[in-house]
Amino acid sequence: MADVLSTRSILIVDTDTGAMENAEKLLDGHKVHRVRNVSDAQRKLVEEGVELAIIGPGFAHEAGVNEASLLLDIQPQLPIVLVAEGLTTDVLRAAIRVGFKDVVDSPLTSAKVESMLGHVDKVESIARGDVQTRTKIGKVVTIMSPKGGAGKTMTTVNVGLSLAMMSGAPERVVIMDADLQFGDVCISLQIEPQHTIVDAARDIEKLDEPLLDSLLAAHTSGLRVLSAPLEPSLADEVSTQVVVKTLGMLKRMFDYVVIDTAPFLDEPVLSILERSDVVLLVVDMDLPAVKNAKLALDTLKLIKFPFEKIQLVLNRVNSKARLDINELERSLGLEVQAAVSSDKLVPRSVNEGEPVVSLYPRSRPAKDLRAVAALVFDGEAIDEPVTEEKRGWFR
Ligand SMILES: Nc1ncnc2c1ncn2[C@@H]1O[C@H](COP(=O)(O)OP(=O)(O)OP(=O)(O)O)[C@@H](O)[C@H]1O
Ligand SMILES: [Mg+2]
Repeated sequence: MADVLSTRSILIVDTDTGAMENAEKLLDGHKVHRVRNVSDAQRKLVEEGVELAIIGPGFAHEAGVNEASLLLDIQPQLPIVLVAEGLTTDVLRAAIRVGFKDVVDSPLTSAKVESMLGHVDKVESIARGDVQTRTKIGKVVTIMSPKGGAGKTMTTVNVGLSLAMMSGAPERVVIMDADLQFGDVCISLQIEPQHTIVDAARDIEKLDEPLLDSLLAAHTSGLRVLSAPLEPSLADEVSTQVVVKTLGMLKRMFDYVVIDTAPFLDEPVLSILERSDVVLLVVDMDLPAVKNAKLALDTLKLIKFPFEKIQLVLNRVNSKARLDINELERSLGLEVQAAVSSDKLVPRSVNEGEPVVSLYPRSRPAKDLRAVAALVFDGEAIDEPVTEEKRGWFR
């Protein structure tokens, strides 16, 4: 039994209830948090100031180790110990590669637990400032579509701005433009960025939260934006590692991180999807769009992406190309969660550099897009009729 001074805050991550109960018994006297998946684990890190994470045998395979390593995005110095049934060199190698502190054989014993606790140096850890003090971790909402021109950027800027409005704290919402070659979030919001993600890449070793904050642009509403490179040739400077590190920081700095992506599933996009809480899959109403969406979903299935994170959003629902929605849902294996009407006010607002939710707040597409934002908003959406005064608030 631990005495008060050496009581540690310990996180156990596993799907096996029996194994978790055994570990918890051995940790009697410590403050133990049990979770079954990595998203919940990330939340605990921020909310509870965890000092040691024990990852159970359910994650003792390469994909599981990679997934659990996402905890290090949130708390880079956290000691993580993997418990594995029958240690293989593959698992050991994977654990070392991602930066786990140790791998121990299952079942746990009190001697093994003592040695794990040796990895924790509470005083030093707090002095280094690793124990998180924020009480909330941002929700990552990624907009994707494997077809160019489906409406990703239009959805991103309108959802970002709607979340800023709904939350009442626009400065707590950030858009990350991860369409690294042809990002056009800034143009859509009439922002001339002073800095872009290329500056983050060039200073990646020194990058910390204050520096990243200084690289963000601000929209007139208060919403923040991390701009894509200004020229396609600069995209090469932004590695997947830069995207991942930047996203990890934005998640700690903001309540919502809304990400626009390029129309394909390359390594940066896949690593973003892996770190997302919600993925809005935008499909417009034509056959190639549905075919590409199906192919992309097949790829995601192969890498065991959790489909419950995907929300299907139809774009241009009332356009001339009539597709049977039931058939589309059957073919994609997903239900439509929201739909955005085709409307000439959408391109008009793009050309004005102001999202349709603020330029024409009472229009059909604006209402539709607020409903898309409501899918991901955590609080109660206040969607009263928009008065001229409120409209002005966006400007
Ligand atoms: N619901 C809609 N009604 C009318 N026009 C729309 C609608 N949605 C998107 N558009 C128009 O389609 C064009 C492409 O949209 P957008 O740039 O958002 O697509 P994208 O998926 O980001 O494209 P890319 O893959 O090139 O980044 C824009 O000019 C936009 O105004
Ligand atoms: Mg786009």
